[in-house]
Amino acid sequence: MRVGVFDSGIGGLTVVKAIAEVLKGAEIFYIADTKFAPYGEKSKEQILKHSFDIANYLVQTHQIDALVVACNTATSAAIKELREAFPKLIVVGTEPGIKPAISLSKNGKIGILATPATLKGEKYQLLVDRLSTSSSHITLYEQACPGLVEEIEKGEVDTQKTFNLLENWLKPMKEERVDTIVLGCTHYPLIGNVIKKIMGQEIHLIETSYAIANRLKELSKSCGHLNDGELNVYVYFTAEIHLTMINKILNSWNNGGKIVVRNIHE
Ligand code: DGL
Repeated sequence: MRVGVFDSGIGGLTVVKAIAEVLKGAEIFYIADTKFAPYGEKSKEQILKHSFDIANYLVQTHQIDALVVACNTATSAAIKELREAFPKLIVVGTEPGIKPAISLSKNGKIGILATPATLKGEKYQLLVDRLSTSSSHITLYEQACPGLVEEIEKGEVDTQKTFNLLENWLKPMKEERVDTIVLGCTHYPLIGNVIKKIMGQEIHLIETSYAIANRLKELSKSCGHLNDGELNVYVYFTAEIHLTMINKILNSWNNGGKIVVRNIHE
C-alpha cells in the first residue's frame, strides 16, 4: 500500500510516527510543504490550492492508495473537496480532539490551541456546535497561536521565546483551572513538554495522531490491505527545513524500515 501524508512542515511527522507504529507493509510518502508554511495564517482558497497541488503530486508521482491530511488547518479548508475530487482514494483528515477531551476532563473546562485558520473555519464551528448540544456542562477556552508553527519549524522548542508565547496564551486557561487541553495543530505535540511546564504535569494533552493512524489501518484493511511486512518512510520537503528537528522526530521511532529524507524543492 502507498500512503501519501502531508502538512505545512514537520508537524505531520507526529502523525507519521503514529502510523509507523500501527501500520505494516506500506510505503509512506510524506510532504512537508515548507515553501508555503504556515498554512494557519492563509485564506481558505490558498490552503485549498496548496492541498490540491500536493494531492495531485502524490497521486501522479507516487500512485498513492490513501491520503492522510496530517494538518488540522488543511483538513478544515480542503477535506471535503479532496474527498470529492479523489473518490477512489482512502482520505483521512485531522480534527481537534474535542470529543476525547470531553470524555477525559473532570471539571468540564477544556482549552483548545489551534491555528487562526482552524478556529475560524466552518468545520471547527460545526464540530463545536454538534458537541456542545450533546454536552452542555462543557466550557471551551479557545486560543489561536499565530506564529507558533514558525517557531517550531525553526527549532525554537525548548527556548525562552516559545515559553513566553505559550505562557501568555495559556494564562487565562491556568486561571480558569482548565484540566484538559486539545492540541488542535499537529505541530503542537512537539511543544507538549513546554505546555506541561506551564500548566502543571497533571494537565491532559489531547492529540489525535493515534486515532488517525488507527482509522487509516481500519480503512486500509477493509480495502484488502494485509498489514504485514516492512514499512518505509520517505520524507520530502518543498523548501528549507530544519533538519535537526526532522532527525529529532525520526530518531524517536525505530520501526526497522527504511527512512529517506529528500528536498523536492523546484
Ligand atoms: N500542522 C498544521 C495544523 O495541524 C499547522 C498549520 C500551519 O502551517 O499553520 O494545523
